[in-house]
Amino acid sequence: MPSEFDRRYAAEVLEPYRRTARYAGETPTMPMIDLALSKEGALLPHLWGLLYDGWRPEPVLAGATVFAQAYEHRGPDNRRKRILMSAMTPDLYDRWYRAKVEAYLDGETDYDDLFWDLHLGAKATAEVREFGAAFDLVLAHASPDEPGVRDAYATAHERLGEVQAWIGGRLRELLDGRTPAPEATFAHYWARNGGLGGAAADFGPGDVAVECLHDRIAMAQWPVAARQIEARLDGDDAVRGWFERTMAEAPDRRDGGPFTPLDRFVMELLRTAPPNPGSLSTLVARKAPAEDPVAFAVTDHLAANTDPRHWARPEPFDPERYSTAPTSADDGRSARAGLARCPFEPQPYPVPDGRPVTLTNSVFGAVYPVGAPVCDSAGYAPFGFGYRRCPAEHLTVAFLKDVLRRRWAA
Ligand code: HEM
Repeated sequence: MPSEFDRRYAAEVLEPYRRTARYAGETPTMPMIDLALSKEGALLPHLWGLLYDGWRPEPVLAGATVFAQAYEHRGPDNRRKRILMSAMTPDLYDRWYRAKVEAYLDGETDYDDLFWDLHLGAKATAEVREFGAAFDLVLAHASPDEPGVRDAYATAHERLGEVQAWIGGRLRELLDGRTPAPEATFAHYWARNGGLGGAAADFGPGDVAVECLHDRIAMAQWPVAARQIEARLDGDDAVRGWFERTMAEAPDRRDGGPFTPLDRFVMELLRTAPPNPGSLSTLVARKAPAEDPVAFAVTDHLAANTDPRHWARPEPFDPERYSTAPTSADDGRSARAGLARCPFEPQPYPVPDGRPVTLTNSVFGAVYPVGAPVCDSAGYAPFGFGYRRCPAEHLTVAFLKDVLRRRWAA
């Protein structure tokens, strides 16, 4: 007799996995994805049991992750995305987060320590660590058919309620002022700017829990990207040559453009080998058979990054291309392209927590901090496009710059 877990695993994991189809989406001409390709529920369906006890998304009852929310469910001007991103702006990295990253890169702490310390200022218990290891193993293996993956899924799903309760407990400590250096945690900004605890909260405790669990998927790209970069520095002469020149000649100098030489080097590493292969969208069926596939569109990042419509010479490894590339701060582009409104009005959002930081969005929807624009070309897609672009872009570039500084120092 199959156990209750095995029955649910077959129905909620193996069956959706078998029925999932991913279709190639259009390579964008502009740095945005059509709104008809939605973010609502845009996570491979066999993974929901890692985020929700009920195996399926329950954004209203249990909490939501911005990653899987359609634009129209995020509040005015993409508000929930802005609250999420208020915890990841460049000012916070130098002041509060770098020490945690350095301890990790120096081997004084491990990935679990880094992850939970950044999110909640807490050290994971043995149970939370066991959950994290099982969760990561499921993500690292494509197929849930493998017996080892099924066992890891069972561990993660069984421990999920306990981990949600643990996150809730750490959040209460944070709100009660019992967490040392609360400003060094993401949840501090989500709580303060999202009105946590207030009647009109944009970010409730359930949202914080689901957001942490989603980030467990997202942040797994850090060690992967770092390893990939180390391998390219070992094996690719052009990349190593640029690295040596960049580091030897004041890598952090401000030389007129929005990006330093080291920023540009990291950006070119990510353009030429994006750690994230494509942006995932759900499709709205106009007509579908009774047993329709679970259909997604994938907007391929490497195809966009190397499309000759965007770069006259996409092939060479050339960080200098970002000295002249369009940025999110160039607000005349949609009009020049003949577009009236695309699709959201730029709207400043001074972060409510009192820091002198204002988030706004580009004419194509990319949210960014005023004074720290991002390259906003359809030819630069490692962090996705438009209103759904990665909020952790600056944070990730800062992390990878520290990886490179260590390599240079060694
Ligand atoms: C190498 C590191 C990373 C890469 C390459 C990356 C890439 C991306 C991409 C391509 C998207 C857009 C997905 C889509 O439109 O379907 C995205 C969205 C997102 N990423 Fe990242 N990411 C990274 C790290 C992180 C980290 C560390 C976090 C959080 C701690 C994070 C949080 C998110 C969130 C919340 C979204 C959803 C944004 C939205 O829909 O508005 N990412 N990321």
